[in-house]
Amino acid sequence: MERREILEQTREYVRNTLAGEGTGHDWYHVDRVCRLARRLAEEEKGTDLYIVELAALLHDIADWKFHDGDESVGPDRAVEWLSGLDVESDIIDRVVQIIREVSFKGAGVDHRPSTPEGRVVQDADRLDALGAIGIARAFAYGGYRSNPIHDPLQQPRMHETFEEYKRSDGTSINHFYEKLLLLTDRMNTEAAKRFAVERHRYMCDFLERFLEEWDAER
Ligand code: ADP
Ligand code: NI
Repeated sequence: MERREILEQTREYVRNTLAGEGTGHDWYHVDRVCRLARRLAEEEKGTDLYIVELAALLHDIADWKFHDGDESVGPDRAVEWLSGLDVESDIIDRVVQIIREVSFKGAGVDHRPSTPEGRVVQDADRLDALGAIGIARAFAYGGYRSNPIHDPLQQPRMHETFEEYKRSDGTSINHFYEKLLLLTDRMNTEAAKRFAVERHRYMCDFLERFLEEWDAER
């Protein structure tokens, strides 16, 4: 099968699997990550766009958050899908490695993907957690987990291990301090950093305003 056809069928598969998902990990999240990843890859000489595109499409096909913390379901499902299309095994290996490396694992865990393609996809996924869209997604996911929006008595926690991060269910406002505001400094590529700085500023404005309204100051 031609690469173009493989990409098209994979898009269809992911769209059918994730359309209408309600926690911010839906098909349009994947579609935005693909577009951002392509945009970032333009500035990263030598990244393989085919690998970037396949990995971006499949990166949330079965997230551990929705499978009892099991990190192997996503990679397994991607292998199953790509083998079914007779994709070459070295391509499958590269795509699956990116899916394993892409996810945030806690404030104290620094993990930079090992390939240029992985770094681009991770940046794109993280950009979609920032800015106006990031704010919307944080409250959608917090609502799905039945987490409180905010609780002034709860302090943010800096998770030192992936296990701690996985088990945590704090407030949605604390999620900004525990994860979202840390992402800008951890972007891998210069292009993503540029996008992130603006999205970051927008979130800070939102938080300031939120806390002022909370305190009946405006
Ligand atoms: P990652 O792979 O880094 O976890 P995802 O693409 O799976 O990234 O998406 C994570 C999304 O879910 C982000 O928009 C993030 O804000 C949101 N999210 C994850 N955990 C929480 C939480 N505890 N409270 C609110 N939002 C959360
Ligand atoms: Ni994602």
